[in-house]
Amino acid sequence: MARILPKHKISIFALFVFSLLIEGSSNKFSRSLSPKSYGLKKEKLSHLQFYLHDIVSGDHPTAVRVAGAAMTNTSSTLFGATMVIDDALTVGPKPTSKIVGRAQGIYSFTDLNEFGLMMVFNYVFVEGKYNGSTLSILGKNPFLSKVREMPIVGGSGHFRFARGYVLARTHSLNLSSGDAVVKHDVYVLHY
Ligand SMILES: *[C@@H]1O[C@H](CO)[C@@H](O)[C@H](O)[C@H]1NC(C)=O
Ligand SMILES: *[C@@H]1O[C@H](CO)[C@@H](O)[C@H](O)[C@H]1NC(C)=O
Ligand SMILES: *[C@@H]1O[C@H](CO)[C@@H](O)[C@H](O)[C@H]1NC(C)=O
Repeated sequence: MARILPKHKISIFALFVFSLLIEGSSNKFSRSLSPKSYGLKKEKLSHLQFYLHDIVSGDHPTAVRVAGAAMTNTSSTLFGATMVIDDALTVGPKPTSKIVGRAQGIYSFTDLNEFGLMMVFNYVFVEGKYNGSTLSILGKNPFLSKVREMPIVGGSGHFRFARGYVLARTHSLNLSSGDAVVKHDVYVLHY
């Protein structure tokens, strides 16, 4: 008995490997590709800079509140308030400056103790070689801080396989209307 056990173990192992091979060939849904054959040659680092216009007031807001909880209006940090945005991105800080894209998505007040947003949005570019391409941002924005860093989690078109980060700095804030212009410095690795 003691002598046949190791053999027995080996044959079970062989069966196991064999079953993996069989399974691999019968349920194949993935394959390896050469990155070069998909045009992915050298990863580059690009710096993009533009200004985001978050307009909450007036007849043509680009940021609208879509949700909140019963406690939101009495919360000192607006906890629960949720906005949908389609904010213009311009080359310079003036509202009349050339538009290079839009920031489309959602932000919510998600901090009970200080002003803090959770932002989920896409930069949707409309200019030059980036026209039609997007970058996706998901991050925390404690907007009273001087510099806020948010991760870039991906992209499309020109920005497939993108990753990186955004540094956001408030350029101007109208305290009576709530409208803000925010400078965005984007550092992105892409092909
Ligand atoms: C909270 O305030 C917002 C904005 O002023 C308003 O639209 C909303 O109706 C208020 N919600 C409640 C539950 O009072
Ligand atoms: C961007 O692409 C859209 C759709 O293809 C096109 O209609 C538009 O003219 C382009 N804009 C620029 C500035 O190239
Ligand atoms: C700030 O907002 C108020 C109210 O909407 C407006 O009257 C004022 O002109 C704005 N200030 C600036 C500097 O844009």
